[in-house]
Amino acid sequence: MNEKESLAKINALVRGEIQQLRPYEPEAALPEIRLDANESPGDVPPELKQAILEGLGRVFWNRYPDPEALRLRERLADRERVSPECILVGNGSDEIIRDLLTVYGGPGTRTVFPAPAFSMYRLLTLSTGGTPVGVRLREDWSLDEAGLVSELRHPNSRLAFIASPNNPTGNAFPRAAVEAVVRETERLIVLDEAYRMFSNGDLRALWEEYPQVVLLNTFSKSMSLAGIRLGYLVARPEIIQMLNRVRLPYNVDSMAQYIACQALEYGSIWEQQAQRVMAERERLAQRLQALPDMTVFPSQANFILIRHPRAVWLKTNLADRNIAVRGFEKTEALENCLRITVGTPGENDSLIAACRAVLNASAGEPSHGE
Ligand SMILES: Cc1ncc(COP(=O)(O)O)c(C=O)c1O
Repeated sequence: MNEKESLAKINALVRGEIQQLRPYEPEAALPEIRLDANESPGDVPPELKQAILEGLGRVFWNRYPDPEALRLRERLADRERVSPECILVGNGSDEIIRDLLTVYGGPGTRTVFPAPAFSMYRLLTLSTGGTPVGVRLREDWSLDEAGLVSELRHPNSRLAFIASPNNPTGNAFPRAAVEAVVRETERLIVLDEAYRMFSNGDLRALWEEYPQVVLLNTFSKSMSLAGIRLGYLVARPEIIQMLNRVRLPYNVDSMAQYIACQALEYGSIWEQQAQRVMAERERLAQRLQALPDMTVFPSQANFILIRHPRAVWLKTNLADRNIAVRGFEKTEALENCLRITVGTPGENDSLIAACRAVLNASAGEPSHGE
């Protein structure tokens, strides 16, 4: 047997549900202006970065990290006004989503979420052997509370993910709407608050009242730290203990633990940064709205969802001009939609100028056959 044949045999051993999967595909090229991944537009401020760099010299690189990440969990517990036993940290919130699915989901179970939603809920449900069940949002992107409750009542449903503000629609769900779902179920409800700092509300009160509610958050969006991969969960200790059964022992490395602790010392920097992003979001929304045939959906996140009859073509033309935005060619309900991360004022100006140039150049051309 030659090498190719034996590798084909090896790969035929892969579980059926994995055979069906496609890997997560971030943009392959790195364009100059990256408005496709909802990252923070500004890097960590230079003074803080310098202080962190000096401190990193005191971290032991030859030792395994603290497997309990105790110092970091204590800092996070202060921030969230809970005890450290209520905090779990992960290699990005992606890892925590997978741990939740490993523990509560798996073969024969269903994971419920509003649709459209963050794509990893579906992908990680599939890769852990479960069945994803999307419940379509209404036309105005509001929650179909009854639909979610009804799917959660299915005997095989184990957990639901609800992100608020929601990615990719950008809207936050009113607390009453989320509560209408939560109070009708005893299944695990993961409230994903990745974009909480860009909105005017939070869902913490639901966590306090309902033991089945857990809150997920990340350092990737409002804290300029997507590069260190750090997410955390706030949950009752009984739930955290279950997750600890599957969590890899050293899942958050020493550097990330150290950097995150330092970043938490500077809470006000991130709040100010989020405020700037929110102001810039409104400016960008207004300017996008002024473009011909453009629908701009209201956003409480650090990105804006738009609809345009020539969205696919617009995305390609922006890419030619070195600007990446996120398209949803294959997502139901998001036909002709693009998601645009709020960048720096300069990046947003470049985006608007490019959109104008592209759309003006296309005026009068037929819009079919794209
Ligand atoms: C709603 C939501 N949750 C979680 C994540 C993942 O964040 P992390 O970088 O912590 O894995 C994202 C990333 O885009 C997201 O949009």
